[in-house]
Amino acid sequence: MTISPKIWDDIYLHGNFMLYPSEFFVRLMRSTETQSGIKGITLDHGCGSGNNAECLFRAGHAIACSEVSQTALDVTRDRLVKAGATNPSCHLVDPSQPLEPQLPKYDNVVSWLALCYAPAADMAAAISQLIKGMSPSGFIWFATPTKNDLLYRISMPGDGPSRTLGAAAGAQEGAVMTIFDDHSDVEAMFAGTEVLDSGTYGMMFSGVQHEYMIIHARKPD
Ligand SMILES: C[S@@+](CC[C@H](N)C(=O)[O-])C[C@H]1O[C@@H](n2cnc3c(N)ncnc32)[C@H](O)[C@@H]1O
Repeated sequence: MTISPKIWDDIYLHGNFMLYPSEFFVRLMRSTETQSGIKGITLDHGCGSGNNAECLFRAGHAIACSEVSQTALDVTRDRLVKAGATNPSCHLVDPSQPLEPQLPKYDNVVSWLALCYAPAADMAAAISQLIKGMSPSGFIWFATPTKNDLLYRISMPGDGPSRTLGAAAGAQEGAVMTIFDDHSDVEAMFAGTEVLDSGTYGMMFSGVQHEYMIIHARKPD
């Protein structure tokens, strides 16, 4: 079983709301602005409650949002309107169907801790489709959990990098995730881009260790 949109709908319906973006995303966004500039529309794919989208919007960038959960999109739309956006571009997607006809035009992509909630082949296919839709010289910023993350510890091994979340995952129990051992397996999904940097960031908070792998890549001109 992969995680169904209904599970995410329930999670957001019950008030899940990330107020701030990850500090790491802010650093990536700001360093890209300084070094090259961010041009055009940035698609936040798997935007959740819209924390990264709001950060981009408040920094003056054009944004679009996509999600498998209508409730997440409603939360995101509401916060973007409160932040001053007029008619934000929010798109519900069915991940089992080709993404291109379901997405608006965009130039750059952020997909933060979203595509890990799929089997490896689906994760790779989604990344490939997202890259195909980017503009030449567009950026993609991607985050996914590593095996040092809580999600790895509360999931059981499946086929290859696939894992199934256990009871400790609460509402997400039973969901299939992809968590790779080897960072090169994640980088290999970014064919058609130049990977400018990749690495990890982590935190230990309330006795719980989290760790994420980050990819910062650019589509060639
Ligand atoms: C852990 S939340 C992260 C949300 C947000 N990107 C953030 O950083 O706060 C995971 C999000 O991914 C979405 N999601 C799950 N599977 C997805 C898929 N195949 N494609 C796009 N989004 C997906 C869920 O609906 C959920 O909102």
